[in-house]
Amino acid sequence: MRVHWFLVSSIADEVSRRRTFAIISHPDAGKSTMTEALALHARVINEAGAIHGKAGRKSTVSDWMEMEKARGISVSSTALQFNYTSSEASPDEEPSVINLVDTPGHADFSEDTYRVLTAVDAAVMLIDAAKGLEPQTLKLFQVCRHRGIPVITVINKWDRPGRTPLELLDEISERIGLTPTPLFWPVGIAGDFRGLRDVRKDEYVHFTRTAGGAKIAPEEHLSTDAALDREGDVWAEAVEETELMTEMGQSHDQEMFLAGQTSPVIFTSAILNFGVRQLLEALVELAPAPHSRTAIDDSEREVTDPFSAVVFKVQAGMDSAHRDRLAFMRIVSGEFERGMVVQHAQTGKPFATKYAMTVVGRDRETVETAYPGDVVGLVNANALSPGDTLYDGAKVQFPPIPSFAPEHFAVVRADSAGKYKQFRKGIEQLGTEGVVQLLRNDVRGDASPVMAAVGPMQFEVVVARMKTEFNVDVQVEHLGYSVARRTDSASADELNRQRGVEVFERNDGALLALFSDKWRLQYIEKEHPSLTLEPLVAAA
Ligand code: G4P
Repeated sequence: MRVHWFLVSSIADEVSRRRTFAIISHPDAGKSTMTEALALHARVINEAGAIHGKAGRKSTVSDWMEMEKARGISVSSTALQFNYTSSEASPDEEPSVINLVDTPGHADFSEDTYRVLTAVDAAVMLIDAAKGLEPQTLKLFQVCRHRGIPVITVINKWDRPGRTPLELLDEISERIGLTPTPLFWPVGIAGDFRGLRDVRKDEYVHFTRTAGGAKIAPEEHLSTDAALDREGDVWAEAVEETELMTEMGQSHDQEMFLAGQTSPVIFTSAILNFGVRQLLEALVELAPAPHSRTAIDDSEREVTDPFSAVVFKVQAGMDSAHRDRLAFMRIVSGEFERGMVVQHAQTGKPFATKYAMTVVGRDRETVETAYPGDVVGLVNANALSPGDTLYDGAKVQFPPIPSFAPEHFAVVRADSAGKYKQFRKGIEQLGTEGVVQLLRNDVRGDASPVMAAVGPMQFEVVVARMKTEFNVDVQVEHLGYSVARRTDSASADELNRQRGVEVFERNDGALLALFSDKWRLQYIEKEHPSLTLEPLVAAA
């Protein structure tokens, strides 16, 4: 009993010092630069690469990806783990363990980008101060909201001319109904970033630039009076604006933040390393530690229960020499030890974890032990698909990862009719794995199913994998639909009669109506208000 108690309490300690989050942003808002800045502050790297220009900066964070590229798979781009000692921590306190899970963006925006959000406990919404809320950020935010993931807002690039702080925060509350609550307010307008007003401590944090932003920016902490002496009107304005927000009730409230109603706000310059320490401190102080997860039978798997994990991403070796699949799991409960044989809930078969790996700091390391909140990559994971559960001890199975609203649609066909059998097998397999969603209807028939995806790169993956794994050349023909809505059988006939609309059954059984564009959808909604047409942010 004593041993058991010791184990539980040590797992609880490990859990309480962990924070697992993702950065949600639109391309170019500064996610890579911020990742690097966080790594610099956690002393994973000694220098950020700005001094070497763009190429140098990019390579600093991504050079540990090079070795993975050589193998055709990327472990390290999926999760970065580092220790961070908070400046508020007592000397004998263990450092916090930060897991930053990457949300692939840019050209490789795909359903995986959304699935990553099922593996995190919090998100940092990174916004470019000159651009405000952008489309990809909005999409990712909707998934966070749907899943109840609390969001910290970061307004980045404050060193460059941009909008006013109040304008940016108004946009957030008006467009997405999230109430921003300032934690660190900029002193100096966008383009003249001098420092931050720590709203809760009522003090001024003044930053000094370092050459090329390569090092941690030195901070000076000043009282209100000293700040006024030093910065004059610029400080007074920061005080006035934050007081205005406080009067409007926009102050941090931990419960409202955790409930997804409010979002603490920090202004930063990732490139100058201003506000980056403040972001880390906010993550440690405010973001939730890993918590229990509800299983499909409605029971709760507590973090101190025996080992369990959810697979949230599966990556196939992109070159034909390495066909192995790599699965990433997020640990939900218990202690993971490399080599343990766990159970795969979906097949009831054992799964050996001899080749497990994680990323700690710069080097990919073979993981020996890991705890709830951590991400572990499993090699040789051909049996695993996103959403699968692995466990030890009492059986548990977590709900499948929902499918997300697709925006790209294409018919897929085998090049030659003789390969139909392999084609069918391959497409079914890729559909089950969640590489794309598969849609069918009687009119199109089985030989030419429609693939639905969040990003068009998913189609390329299908073409490549059909060729290398199933030896079938396929043709992809893009369809002119861009919006999907969930519907029901009672509405299907009427919808099929409409121009620019087609109804399909998805591989999970849901009925989806596809529309050529949102105007067509709006028109039909107006003309036929009784039809069932529900948005698909994260349809279960
Ligand atoms: P991403 O991963 O979100 O796509 O963004 P990334 O970090 O690559 O940053 C995009 C560009 O924005 C980069 O410039 C980067 O240096 C710059 N940037 C990021 N954070 C800041 C910041 O806080 N302040 C300023 N001024 N710039 C920032 P780049 O790749 O050189 O492109 P460009 O600037 O030449 O267009």
